[in-house]
Amino acid sequence: MELSQVRLSIIGAGYVGLVSAVCFADRGYEVTLSSEDPEKVKQINNCISPFYEKDLEETLKKAVGSGKLRATLGREDAVLDSDVTFVAVGTPSKTDGSIDLTYIKDSCTKIGKVLQEKAGYHLVVVRSTVVPGTTQNVVKPIIEKFSRKVAGKDFGLVMQPEFLRQGSAIYDTINPDRLIIGEHDPRSGESLLNLYQEFYKEKFPPTLRVNLSSAEMIKYASNAFLATKISFINEVANVCEKVRGVDVVKVAEGMGLDQRIGKKFLHAGPGFGGSCFPKDLKAIVAFARERNYRPKILESVLKVNENQANHIIELAKSQLKTLRGKRIAVLGLSFKPETDDIREAPSIRIIRQLLKGGTEVIVYDPVAIKNASKTFGKKIEYVDSVRSCLKNADAALIVTEWEEFNKLTPTDFKQLMKYPIVIDARRIYDPATYRSDTAYTAIGLGR
Ligand SMILES: NC(=O)c1ccc[n+]([C@@H]2O[C@H](COP(=O)([O-])OP(=O)(O)OC[C@H]3O[C@@H](n4cnc5c(N)ncnc54)[C@H](O)[C@@H]3O)[C@@H](O)[C@H]2O)c1
Repeated sequence: MELSQVRLSIIGAGYVGLVSAVCFADRGYEVTLSSEDPEKVKQINNCISPFYEKDLEETLKKAVGSGKLRATLGREDAVLDSDVTFVAVGTPSKTDGSIDLTYIKDSCTKIGKVLQEKAGYHLVVVRSTVVPGTTQNVVKPIIEKFSRKVAGKDFGLVMQPEFLRQGSAIYDTINPDRLIIGEHDPRSGESLLNLYQEFYKEKFPPTLRVNLSSAEMIKYASNAFLATKISFINEVANVCEKVRGVDVVKVAEGMGLDQRIGKKFLHAGPGFGGSCFPKDLKAIVAFARERNYRPKILESVLKVNENQANHIIELAKSQLKTLRGKRIAVLGLSFKPETDDIREAPSIRIIRQLLKGGTEVIVYDPVAIKNASKTFGKKIEYVDSVRSCLKNADAALIVTEWEEFNKLTPTDFKQLMKYPIVIDARRIYDPATYRSDTAYTAIGLGR
């Protein structure tokens, strides 16, 4: 069989599932994407992206328009009509921090039942983030039980962690830094490698083949390391504020020139958020603790992150004395630019603190207002432009570094706000320019 005739099914139409689906379809693969949500299936088949992600809707239109991508409610027919199945369902946090494997188990049961009926070799690839041992001890036995087949002989099994960044998910899928192929057996790994060799052609990324559990651990260790870098620079930023004339932006720049350190992920701010870092950190901490090991660095990374929202509130208080009864403009809600995802976003922690302190909160975000209104309802005021947000505000907090906020000038803040108090939690403005014209305070900026 020609490789480009390999038919793919993807279970789970979130950031990972949908983005992979459109990228594969864009390169000519026949893809069936399955979601348990009928509304999502309808939207995808009508070329409407269920969430905002840069370039996604355009690529989706092409993929559906060319007939290469279709979405379906039925997981069974998706698997049946394909040679390779990618599992990209959510693995949300439980209250103790460990991950909920309900969707993984459900998907594996369905895959197993279909494989029982299906002739020929089928490859199953786990893309969801799961703790070490899950593919070997949960995924494999469920599929084997329901298919009455044997992994490595009748079907292939690979754990391939996903490293895309929301906001540049399409770009990252087409240009990954690396492929990590966690293989149950050599044939499984080889099958996936062949698929990607055709997909990436001459732009084939550096690849590492390891066993299933090592691949799972590589994902957690990578995210834990990046989150550690963020909490580290946030802690450094909080110390910088105590020292006259020191600026964390310059400190990070100086550190980053050292190639052993690198400049990425050294941007001080209101803390990390999103669907991955907080969830993955909590999961690996819970995983280690269940095995009688306390990962002290990782526990501290989470604590520093949790506290960073309070720190932003303290910066606001240092300017306003009290926040009670004040009108505060929050610029940016999504956990990062170019996405409407507000899961675990610093904006949520900050707004909750503001509301607790009796503050009137008015918010603006170019794409995340709809999601935020599901969380805050009528407790806060939503506006559709940055100017309306600043109007008559007592202070403005820059919480997400959306490009359009860069276009504002000190004069805008002065003209629109009651008092031009600017708290720059993302370090998007030049302190020298802003300090002369507004009451400017920023994370990591010594007094
Ligand atoms: N979002 C990211 O940036 C990212 C990056 C790397 C890895 N991951 C991991 O990938 C996995 C998926 O993440 P996501 O952000 O795409 O999740 P998501 O929450 O955006 O979407 C998960 C999807 O799975 C669907 N689903 C759940 N159960 C299903 C079932 N039984 N059948 C079909 N669909 C089902 C949900 O409706 C949802 O559409 C998670 O384990 C996550 O940790 C996410």
